[in-house]
Amino acid sequence: MPATDDISLRLLHFLRQAEDYISGEELSDKLAVSRTAIWKRIGSLKKEGFNIEASTKKGYRLIQSEDPYGRISIQSRISGHILGKDLKFYQEVDSTNNVLKKLAADNAPEGTIVISDVQLTGRGRRGRVWMSAPGLGIWMSVLLRPNLHPSQVQTLTLASSIAVMRALEPLGIEGSGIKWPNDILINKKKVCGILTELSAEAEKIEWVVIGIGLNANHDPDDFQSDIRDTATSLKINSKEHKIFDRSEIAANIINELEAVYIEFLEKGSGWVAGEWRKWNVTLGKRVKLISQTGIKEAEALDITPDGKLIVRYDDGKTDEVLSGEVTLR
Ligand code: BTN
Repeated sequence: MPATDDISLRLLHFLRQAEDYISGEELSDKLAVSRTAIWKRIGSLKKEGFNIEASTKKGYRLIQSEDPYGRISIQSRISGHILGKDLKFYQEVDSTNNVLKKLAADNAPEGTIVISDVQLTGRGRRGRVWMSAPGLGIWMSVLLRPNLHPSQVQTLTLASSIAVMRALEPLGIEGSGIKWPNDILINKKKVCGILTELSAEAEKIEWVVIGIGLNANHDPDDFQSDIRDTATSLKINSKEHKIFDRSEIAANIINELEAVYIEFLEKGSGWVAGEWRKWNVTLGKRVKLISQTGIKEAEALDITPDGKLIVRYDDGKTDEVLSGEVTLR
């Protein structure tokens, strides 16, 4: 028996749901395995750091504290069928996008996920560094193999930012929204960035790696001085400065991403644009557009279904911008 197999993941799920003691008999019925098999798996989960109490009379109880951050905690919360069936968790990698891009080139299946506690060379957009210190954030990459034209990849990144927003909503943090195309801000500071990389033929995407970096438990001093004024974390914005359970949030993002992805494939990019509008904090605002050709001010009017930003410059001309950096004024 592998230390933590599929049955262990489902066992953890039932323990979590029960909130109180659940008998060995009930667990063995639910999982259709013997009570000895349950007992062995409880032992393995305890070794992995889960705090499970055993009572001969009452059964087993998971002490609901923050679960150890790792594959089992995350996978036992995954409810979908595509994303996270194969989830690789590391203590340290160079970049989860790099690891997953290699796996993608080796034919890893759609839905493969790589998560690491630390990234030594985490990458942001435009060649920037993404600070990925231990214990603080969610550094995760998701592999998709959609049957889409390469021009639709920007819609996939919009879809990913919608999934993150949906996963953050139950946390009750005020002031969050998406800055075009896919930065998640809380009170104008960046809490999450998304780096999408792809391999494609002329007409079809071969694979897309969506890299999500979410600052969860940082205090202001955890950010390097050059980003301290522009970066933020969930903890900084929560009322009681609480430590968030990264496993739970990572699993929620994965579950929401699967839901948004499926709906995108069914309903098309117009649906994604509509959802994105609900969460955005860009449209209707004055923005500074920073591109290779220089800096221009404009008003952000709308987005197109393929994710371009429609802007109106001060001379009245309108334009559709595919990439570039936007600063909210
Ligand atoms: C941005 O610049 O806004 C994008 C940041 C993306 C960071 C994530 S963390 C997980 C994945 N691996 C990386 O090296 N980058 C992305």
